[in-house]
Formats: sequence, C-alpha cells, structure tokens
Amino acid sequence: MSASNQREGVVLHDRLFVPYITPQEIARGVEEVAARIRDRRSESAPLLICVLKGATLFFADLLRSLDFPVTIDFVRASSYGNGMVSGETLTFTAEPGTEIAGRNVIVVEDIIDTGRTVTALREYFAARHAQTVEVAALLYKPAAHHTGEKPEYVAFEIADRFVVGYGLDYAEQGRNLSGIYVLAEEGEAQVEESATDEHAG
Ligand code: IMP
Ligand code: MG
Repeated sequence: MSASNQREGVVLHDRLFVPYITPQEIARGVEEVAARIRDRRSESAPLLICVLKGATLFFADLLRSLDFPVTIDFVRASSYGNGMVSGETLTFTAEPGTEIAGRNVIVVEDIIDTGRTVTALREYFAARHAQTVEVAALLYKPAAHHTGEKPEYVAFEIADRFVVGYGLDYAEQGRNLSGIYVLAEEGEAQVEESATDEHAG
C-alpha cells in the first residue's frame, strides 16, 4: 500500500474502515513497549509468546526492537468467529512446544477486548509453572468491561470500537494493512464510500 492512500478508507466485506493509528504512530508505540520490557527484564532471556494470528506483525516488530536475548514460541487461541462481537468460548488450536516451567513468559497480543483470551492465557502459562507471566498488548479497550488484570505493557489504549489492520482482521481481511483502521460511523461512510473500494490491501 502506498503512503498516499493510507489516508483514505478501506472497504472489507462491504464495510468501510477509516484510518485510526498510522504506521508511524504504531512504530513509536512498539518502541515504547520494547523500552519498558527492557527496563523490567531480569537476568534470564524471556520467552515471548505470539498469539496467532492477530499479533504476528506486532510480534515481529517488537522482536526486532529488543536488543537482548529472547526466545519465542506461538499459541493459537480463538474466541472470535467472523463477526465483530467477542465470542463466549475460547479454544486453543496450537500450543507452544517450549518448556514453560521456570520461564519469564511475555504473552504478546494484538488487542484486549473483553480480556477473556488473555485471562485464559495467563492461567495456561501459570498452570505450566512459568516463573512470571506478563502481557504485552498493542491495543487495549478499557471500556470493554474486561474482567482480567490490566496488561503490563500496552502500546495504545483505544475507544470501544472495532478496528482492523496491522495483523487484526475483520473476517480474515485487513491483516496486511500497515496502519490500524476503525469501522466508520454513519457520517464518515457517506463521505468516503464512493472513493474507497479499491484499497483493500
Ligand atoms: P477478548 O478475549 O475479548 O479480549 O478478545 C481478544 C481477541 O478478539 C483478540 O485477540 C482479537 O483477535 C479479537 N478482537 C477483539 N477486538 C477486536 C477488534 O476490534 N478487531 C479485530 N479483532 C478483535
Ligand atoms: Mg481476530
């Protein structure tokens, strides 16, 4: 996607999304999270866990911003269907192969909405005797009445609105966008709709 059309909206499955957080702002947010992880780190290399699929771009950029030894693994937990409302049930469809016991685990998530996914992940790693479990989230929706603890590291607190891009999807579309886009409200949709349907990726 070129720099010029990042100011415009994108249409995914007939819904319009408008720019919300630019790639430049994301890069600064990732650097800040990396700096805070660096400040709080202990002797041993942390085990960073990427929560598939949404955290992949944040994970890759965060890793490159950490200038000390880390190891990585992946988990796939799914609580969303193809809609925009958080699902009731969480299923683990891929689990890390790394030995968890004694490790300082940092769970890297794209977004915390209700907090169910992250709460289940904290329990998962605690049950496997991680020494510490922390959470690094790109986005955090404080208005979503989530039940769990606040993440130790957050790049951006956002409004309770549906967002896509930079790994996050709407029914599997939009993950490849470099910026974060928010579902347009009605007024915005009327202004931008005609000019935007060629920029879905
Ligand atoms: P939670 O369990 O309700 O906190 O939801 C966490 C998961 O829901 C995230 O890892 C995302 O995959 C998905 N999710 C929550 N809000 C959004 C959003 O605004 N856009 C896209 N996916 C979202
Ligand atoms: Mg998702």
